[in-house]
Amino acid sequence: MKLKTLIYLAAAGLLASCASADQKPVINPIQETVALAVQQIGFQTELIEQSGKIMIPRTIKNDKIHYVPIDDWTSGFFAGTMWYMYDLTGDEKWKTLGVKYTEHLDSAKYLTWHHDVGFMINCSYGNALRVTGDTAYKSVMMEAARSLATRYRPVPGVIQSWDEDRGWQGKRGWMCPVIIDNMMNLELFFEATRISGDSSFYKMAVSHADVTMAHHFRDDYSSYHVVDYDKIKGGVRSRETAQGYAHESAWARGQAWALYGYTVCYRETRDERYLKMAENIYNYLFNHPNMPADLVPYWDFDAPAIPNEPRDASAAAIIASALYELSTYKQNGFKETADKIVASLASPAYLAIVGTNHNFLLMHSVGSIPHGHEIDVPLNYADYYFLEALVRKQNIEKK
Ligand code: GLY
Repeated sequence: MKLKTLIYLAAAGLLASCASADQKPVINPIQETVALAVQQIGFQTELIEQSGKIMIPRTIKNDKIHYVPIDDWTSGFFAGTMWYMYDLTGDEKWKTLGVKYTEHLDSAKYLTWHHDVGFMINCSYGNALRVTGDTAYKSVMMEAARSLATRYRPVPGVIQSWDEDRGWQGKRGWMCPVIIDNMMNLELFFEATRISGDSSFYKMAVSHADVTMAHHFRDDYSSYHVVDYDKIKGGVRSRETAQGYAHESAWARGQAWALYGYTVCYRETRDERYLKMAENIYNYLFNHPNMPADLVPYWDFDAPAIPNEPRDASAAAIIASALYELSTYKQNGFKETADKIVASLASPAYLAIVGTNHNFLLMHSVGSIPHGHEIDVPLNYADYYFLEALVRKQNIEKK
């Protein structure tokens, strides 16, 4: 074992034991959480730097950090985490790392085999552009938007999420599957129109948001996970799940993506229908009898063994971040709810002690229970949206 690694492990052990001696159920204020993040994410990046490679941590698998390739849907969140650490601390170290992990993703702009290029490039290059204003990043965003546009299907008017062969538990036969998560890719289209003046991206985003509003939601404003469209004749072929408990259940992260997605649509268009949609989704979530008191949802609102089901901290972090933004458009208790979620996530129940959790921030997220992977683990996107929520909270409170 390398000397540096031994020093790291010793330091981590020491910190962990100090922290556990002091473990008490307190709500950490922002500064304490950021101080912890500086150490945790600092250890995460030091380990990577020591390897001499550029690697992207996603989660923990078999008690080891699981690193992912550039074309993984989660590849942009680590670079984005660097940018939010820079926002929260002002320390140039994070900016340098932000540039490095962002530019590592350059080739992702050509990705056309799934819809997640929006997540990948917007969370990395989008933040890089926001922070640095470096115009070179605009061309990467534009190339990525063109890649995403190859998946736009004009007859139904949606961006196709997955290829046809990704059916429920191996079942094939989808024609144009769209998952609710896809609402998160629209931000890249809005940005592409802002950069280029080409309104076709904006129009595709609006069409996708409208068609999704018409077909993806039940009367109570819970969302299906997958809607399969007929890409030749238009219309819905089926409504299903892939990562939820059942076709008719409400998968928690899907509801979170929906809330966040319509909040972005309102920001970009000022169309009141999108604001109303976000409010309706909010009401579904926070009036639900299965929403726990700490406001960190179970992985699916209809999971059969609630309260003995895993929580999904990633869903909570996405919801909190969306609600901070929503609170800047309308006062309806959105900020108070977001504050409660952040307080829960920043408590020892979810926020890891320094030196534990393989240096991810949040514990207790869920990737996909039906696929049997990433159950009750840290996830890089839980950390990303948690930090984004802290940045938004700080910005609102500064004002
Ligand atoms: N977008 C994939 C997921 O939320 O798991």
